[in-house]
Amino acid sequence: MNILLLGGGGREHALAWKLAQSPSLSTLYAAPGNPGIAQHAQLVDIDATDHRAVLDFCTRHSIGLVVIGPEAPLVDGLADNLRTMGVAVFGPGAKAAQLEGSKGFTKDLCKRAGIPTAAYIRVTSKDGAIAALDDFALPVVIKADGLAAGKGVIIAETRAEALDALDTMFSGAFGKAGEEVVLEEFMTGEEASFFALTDGTAILPFGSAQDHKRVGDGDTGPNTGGMGAYSPARVLTPELEIQVMETIIRPTVATLAAEGMPYSGVLYAGLMLTDEGPRLIEYNARFGDPECQVLMMRFDGDLVALLLAVAQGRLADHGPAELAQRTALTVVMAANGYPDAPEKGGAIAGVAAAEAAGTRIFHAGTAMRGDALVASGGRVLNVTATGDSVRAAQKAAYAAVDLLDFPTGFCRRDIGWREIAREDAA
Ligand code: AMP
Ligand code: GLY
Repeated sequence: MNILLLGGGGREHALAWKLAQSPSLSTLYAAPGNPGIAQHAQLVDIDATDHRAVLDFCTRHSIGLVVIGPEAPLVDGLADNLRTMGVAVFGPGAKAAQLEGSKGFTKDLCKRAGIPTAAYIRVTSKDGAIAALDDFALPVVIKADGLAAGKGVIIAETRAEALDALDTMFSGAFGKAGEEVVLEEFMTGEEASFFALTDGTAILPFGSAQDHKRVGDGDTGPNTGGMGAYSPARVLTPELEIQVMETIIRPTVATLAAEGMPYSGVLYAGLMLTDEGPRLIEYNARFGDPECQVLMMRFDGDLVALLLAVAQGRLADHGPAELAQRTALTVVMAANGYPDAPEKGGAIAGVAAAEAAGTRIFHAGTAMRGDALVASGGRVLNVTATGDSVRAAQKAAYAAVDLLDFPTGFCRRDIGWREIAREDAA
C-alpha cells in the first residue's frame, strides 16, 4: 500500500520511521517532510492547504491511506474532502476536530456529556468578559477559543493581569482565534497526557506521557511547544487510566457519534490529576509533538495496520495496541533564541555517531544546505532513547546529546525530573 504522510516535524519523522517498518507498506510519500523523514519516505511538494492538489496526488499515486500529522489541515476539513472522494484518512473531519479547534466547543461538549473539567464561561466581548470575571476566583485562566499555536492561554494571578490578558485577546493579538474567549476555573494537580485511538465507535488506549512545556531547567522561562517528554507517565496508574477512559474518553467519543460528528483518529487528552480525580484540561485532535516520538519508541506493532483499522472503521477487530513496558524519553534540542527568535542556519554534526549509541535522533526543524545539515526551526532535533526506567532512558538520551555537535543549539538538562524523583523515592 502507498501512504501519504502530511507534516514535517519530529512527530512526523517518528511516524515515518514506524510506518516504514510495516510489511504492508509499498511507497511512503511525505509532504513537506524534512531531511530525517527523507530517510524513510519520498518527499513531495504538495501544499496541504490545497485540498484539490492533495486529492490529485492521491489518485495519481494510488494512495491507500493519508496520515495527517498536524492540527491545521484537520480543522480545515482536509480529512472530510479526502473521505468524500473515497480516500482512507487517519485524522478527524472538521466537525470532530473542533475538539482542538475551539476550546468553547470542547467545554460545551463536556457539559453535555458530564465530563469532569474546569468550570467555564464563553465570552465574545471584552465587556462581557469583564462582567464574567467576578464569577471566578484568582488565579483565573483566560483562553483564546481557536488555534493559537499553544500561545493562547494566560493564567492571570491578579485582576489587573486578567484585564490585561482580555485587552490582548480582544485587541486581535490572536487574530480570529481570539474573537471568542473562554474563562476557566484554575485547577491544581499534576498534568499528564493520555492518548486513545478511535474510529468513532471502538476505542483503544494508546499510552500516556508527560512533557515539559517551559524552556528552562526546573520548569522556568516562557512556554514552548514542548522541550522533552517521556512515556509512560506512571503517575497515571492503571486505575486512573480506567477512570479517564470511562469518565472522559468514552463519553466524548459516544457524544460526538450520537451528535453526527464521529471522531476518527487519535484523541490526545491533556489531563489535570486533581484531588477529586482526573479532569480534562483540553483535547488535541492529533498526536503530541514530542509525545508522539516517545510513543513510537514504545510501539512494537504494525503502524500501517493500526492506523488503517482506525481510518476504515475496523478498530474493533484490532487487539490492544502493542505498546511495550519500556520507558522512552526524548530531549528536544532547540536553536538558541527559541521560543522567541530561534537562530536559523546553525550547523549540525554528529548525528550518525549519536545514533550509533542506540538512540534515535528525530528531525524536527532541520534542512539541508548543500551536503550539510542545518537548523531551520525552533525545535531542531529530538534525541530519543529507551530504558528500563526514566533514569536509564534519560542517561542514554543525554549521552547522545553529548555526542552531537550543534553549537547554536541548546536543550534542557532535566527532562524526566519529576518521575526520576519518584523513582529515587521508591
Ligand atoms: P492548553 O493549551 O489548554 O493545554 O493550556 C496550556 C496549559 O495551561 C496547560 O498545559 C496547563 O498547564 C495550563 N492550564 C490550562 N487550563 C488550565 C486550568 N483550567 N487550570 C490550570 N491550568 C490550566
Ligand atoms: N507537546 C504539546 C503538543 O503537542 O501540543
